[in-house]
Amino acid sequence: MLGVALLGLGLAVLAYYLLGKYHHSDEPPSPPGLPILGNLIDLARASDNITKTFGVLGEKYGEIFSIRMGLKRMVVLTSKEAMQSILTNEATFARDNSGMFADWSFHKNLGIVTSRGGVWSKTRNWTFKMLREFGLGKSLAMEGYIQIASDLLFAKIDDKLGTEVNVDYFFHQPIQTTMWLMVVGRLSEDDKEDIKLIIDTEERFIKSGVLGPSVVNAFPFLRFVFPNWLGHKVQILAESALQMDFFQTCNSIGKKLFDEMKQKLKASPLTSQPVNLLEAFVQNCGTDDEIFNCENFQIIFQDLLISSSDTSSSFLESVVLYLIAFPEMQEKIYQEILNVAPNRRVINFEDRKRMPYTQAFILETHRNARTIQNFAPRRILWDFVYKNYKIKKGTIVIADTRLHCENKQIWGDPEVFRPERFIGEHGELENASSVISFSFGKRNCPGELHANIVVFLILTALLQRYKISNPVGQTTPRLDMKPGFTLKPYPFQLVFEKRNLKI
Ligand code: HEM
Repeated sequence: MLGVALLGLGLAVLAYYLLGKYHHSDEPPSPPGLPILGNLIDLARASDNITKTFGVLGEKYGEIFSIRMGLKRMVVLTSKEAMQSILTNEATFARDNSGMFADWSFHKNLGIVTSRGGVWSKTRNWTFKMLREFGLGKSLAMEGYIQIASDLLFAKIDDKLGTEVNVDYFFHQPIQTTMWLMVVGRLSEDDKEDIKLIIDTEERFIKSGVLGPSVVNAFPFLRFVFPNWLGHKVQILAESALQMDFFQTCNSIGKKLFDEMKQKLKASPLTSQPVNLLEAFVQNCGTDDEIFNCENFQIIFQDLLISSSDTSSSFLESVVLYLIAFPEMQEKIYQEILNVAPNRRVINFEDRKRMPYTQAFILETHRNARTIQNFAPRRILWDFVYKNYKIKKGTIVIADTRLHCENKQIWGDPEVFRPERFIGEHGELENASSVISFSFGKRNCPGELHANIVVFLILTALLQRYKISNPVGQTTPRLDMKPGFTLKPYPFQLVFEKRNLKI
């Protein structure tokens, strides 16, 4: 073990001297850094709150600066202008494919989140075109899926009325179930077991801290040297037949679904249009082997579950945090719900047009919670220039949205949680495009509309039924966010009280 560590260290020293000891004057400015460690010490010194680190350096070095995480050369973007201009450039349409990101997809070019080139564009375009046909982003179909998923959530809440409820991962199940329904098209008892297994392993994976600006990210080889300490075991090793890691769990369930569908379509080929993503995918097998193969399905399945669930559920946790911190805002949203649906009918996505305060509250939550503050790392495919700065092939690009979200010139009073900043003189929604949570360009978040619909429908359905408050006698929970794969609230508790649903 020690031999492997020393060999890794030796190679790291050699690579440092051979590949890039010197900072070139045409590259974005950079803190000086040290051999091997690069700027890890500068990063650690910048702030003891990791969510602030890049912003603190941005205040000193500007909207674009270079750093080295160990041997990894990175460029950090802190202004909307730099993000918009650089992330829409085709030269940035690849991902970091080292360390955990390589483990993510069998170390192959597969799926959507970590893939590149033709595989990425064909897989992404086909998958989201199909998902749209099966309801993604379409309010009517989504309302059906969310109704099924919300019923599970409300049953859980009804069991806990009046008691203190822990919010940690509270929304994972309805979010995961909504995506499952779109991909698999059914929800049997076995499916519910599989969803539970995925959620349990996913939580452990996310909590292990292997994602984000970690030691593993700077020195990927260390994950093999200290697998337990660095959370790698949670990522790839089976501990027992029932307690498998997230990737393995997801991959084996994805394979089971693929094989079952293959058998089914072999026995009785479809006579009508496919009705879910799995059916459509297997039906296409044989038309383009690079895309329609079992391994690519396994990674697409995993990508969709992880990219839709942790993001939207962390965001919803932030929504309920602000609802209990600002009860008068909760009341305003409830009044809008009563206004559009005085007979307590189900709220639909069309209703949002008459609910500007609710929409403004969601936007203000995006600005304050910054759920994916660092987007997802991109990798530069060829050298290109931004405002006289040369960004070199192979550099990893990271965005950091905090300085934009806290910019006094844009927001006036960024430190205040104030949904009204998104409401114009005549009650119309304004400044929505200043919120940049879903990134930019062709490699932005393809689930933006889906996320917006899910959040709006779950929030309104929740408040139509329940009043949510801070447990009596407890101080208001802290409002800053906990770092991780996504930024989410520190664990807190709340109490649900049923509203009178009679007319
Ligand atoms: C509050 C909810 C969400 C937020 C804030 C969010 C944000 C993001 C961001 C910032 C990225 C990185 C884009 C880039 O590299 O520039 C991303 C990627 C992605 N998101 Fe989302 N997302 C959310 C929900 C969803 C949902 C619901 C889905 C699925 C329906 C989804 C699917 C994806 C996928 C597949 C990618 C990878 C895209 C690619 O590499 O081409 N996201 N998301």
